Amino acid sequence: LRKEALEQLQGVADAAALNDLRVQYLGKKGQLTEILRGMGGLSAEERPIIGQVGNDVRAAIEAVIGEKQEGFDRAATAHRLQAETIDVTLPGKSVNSGSVHPLNKVAQEIEDIFIGMGYTIAEGPEVETDFFNFEALNLPKNHPARDMQDSFYITDEILLRTHTSPVQIRTMKAMNGKTPVKVICPGKVYRRDDDDATHSFMFHQIEGLVIGPNIRMSDLKGTLLQFVQEMYGPQMQIRLRPSFFPFTEPSAEVDVTCAQCGGSGCRMCKHTGWIEILGCGMVHPKVLEHGGYDPKEVTGFAFGMGVERIALLKYDIDDIRHFYANDTKFLSQFAKL
Ligand code: PHE
Repeated sequence: LRKEALEQLQGVADAAALNDLRVQYLGKKGQLTEILRGMGGLSAEERPIIGQVGNDVRAAIEAVIGEKQEGFDRAATAHRLQAETIDVTLPGKSVNSGSVHPLNKVAQEIEDIFIGMGYTIAEGPEVETDFFNFEALNLPKNHPARDMQDSFYITDEILLRTHTSPVQIRTMKAMNGKTPVKVICPGKVYRRDDDDATHSFMFHQIEGLVIGPNIRMSDLKGTLLQFVQEMYGPQMQIRLRPSFFPFTEPSAEVDVTCAQCGGSGCRMCKHTGWIEILGCGMVHPKVLEHGGYDPKEVTGFAFGMGVERIALLKYDIDDIRHFYANDTKFLSQFAKL
């Protein structure tokens, strides 16, 4: 039995076969167990001798099983280590990460330029009262800009703000007559436009407001020129065209050198060499009064620009709707800029 068992154990192929043999010889119903169990029928002299032999055989089989088992365990461990080896020289898989939205990027750039000129940031609510959005900005009742066609009204007196100019009034009131006021106010604005390549019912503006003892139109012009040259490059020029806003007097629209043709004229600027980028003017005396300032003591300038418009020009994008579609193919182009 010993010889047969050891021979079989030598040839065993894997841990499962080894276990089978262990059961076959040493198990409860195993061959050796049977023999040892049958010892009751032996004489008193034979019993210790057979018992001794049985135990020796058991020990020999157990020893070989132990050795074999260890061998299999080692092989299994080695195999696992081999299989789990990590090749640290393999190129990594890149993870998809998000990026700052181009509108936020441009807004932050604009903010940074004005912060560099000593401005602070002010914000106001998107749901606004008629007073702040229109009345205090010298837009009398029945003014065409208050038309239901153009604004999203919630009640007669409450609407979604149509521009960031109401933040001018909120800022003035918060300043309690103190000067200087020097803020920019970024945020969303809403108008009842049908969406197309250049219009959206919601877009972003950045308002600027400066108030002090002797603020002049030349300060406004110098500020805007500085802004434009930092934003688009030192070769850029601006021109102011007379315009009208109820809350500024005088008012102007500001054009910047067309980046596409450098001013010589192209399709983008309709062959004028100029592109309109914002509206501005000297704060109207009535607006100063609504904000709690005496127009005989202080003056101010204000401007308002569309972030989408600035971004469209900066990146030569042909349709404003790209900004709102959340198409990662479009958005990812700005990740590395
Ligand atoms: N609020 C004006 C608009 O939305 C822009 C503007 C702001 C003009 C400040 C003058 C001064 O068109």
